[in-house]
Amino acid sequence: MIKSVLLRAAQESGQLMKDFSAQGFKINSKDGRNDLVTEADHASEKKIMGIIRESFPDHYILTEESGDLPSSSSYKWIIDPIDGTVNFANGIPLSCVSIAVEKDGDMIMGAVYNPFIDEFFFAEKGQGATLNGKPISVSKKESVANAILVTGFPYTYLNEENGPLDTFGRFIRAGIPVRRLGSAAIDLCWVACGRFDGYFEHKLNAWDSAAGFLIVKEAGGIVTDFDGKDYSPYQPKIIATNGNIHNELIRWIQNKV
Ligand code: IPD
Ligand code: CA
Ligand code: CA
Repeated sequence: MIKSVLLRAAQESGQLMKDFSAQGFKINSKDGRNDLVTEADHASEKKIMGIIRESFPDHYILTEESGDLPSSSSYKWIIDPIDGTVNFANGIPLSCVSIAVEKDGDMIMGAVYNPFIDEFFFAEKGQGATLNGKPISVSKKESVANAILVTGFPYTYLNEENGPLDTFGRFIRAGIPVRRLGSAAIDLCWVACGRFDGYFEHKLNAWDSAAGFLIVKEAGGIVTDFDGKDYSPYQPKIIATNGNIHNELIRWIQNKV
């Protein structure tokens, strides 16, 4: 039941993103000048919440645009109605809906759907991960020197030691390719299906990573914070890799190579 509701919510909100993209939409700015929210973000969130509420009126919901809607249920839905909003607002086909389900603090299911290139990623704890219904797994590369990485940057400059630009610069100076797609959920899914060997980011929210991190783990990868501790989506820093390069990538990010 949870799975069918999750799949339906992701499918229908993805279709809605496509419809908005075709017909046009209003764009507003949040706190930062380029931190955008569109009419489609709100409509997608409303659709997802409606579908969940129909079947599970008492479940806990955490969403990017409506915030924290607590309840005493052991189930919690974590929703990013559009991840990659700046791409979406500019017609760049790298955005998605991301929905995860947590039970008693454990991530048990996640779906990430990019309707523009029709890629539907799904994972259930202990059952592996799929792309459009077919099993996926992480890459096999064994060293950071041979890896292709992906990262993202927060909307406002993060002034800290080893911040996003320092880390980025270190890889670029060493000639290691680092891409920046603009959607954390897609970055994670593309690690899960082996297109990237590793991903790191300094400042995420739970809704950016909750589904993608389970998808990486179920595809055979490893996800931790910058110290190598088991990942929690309720803290900002993330490293997700194919597993083989994980410890080495942590040393690169900690500036200890
Ligand atoms: C953003 C994207 C981006 C990441 C930002 C997020 P949004 O989410 O995931 O890749 O670098 O930190 O805020 O605003 O498009 O939902
Ligand atoms: Ca996001
Ligand atoms: Ca968003």
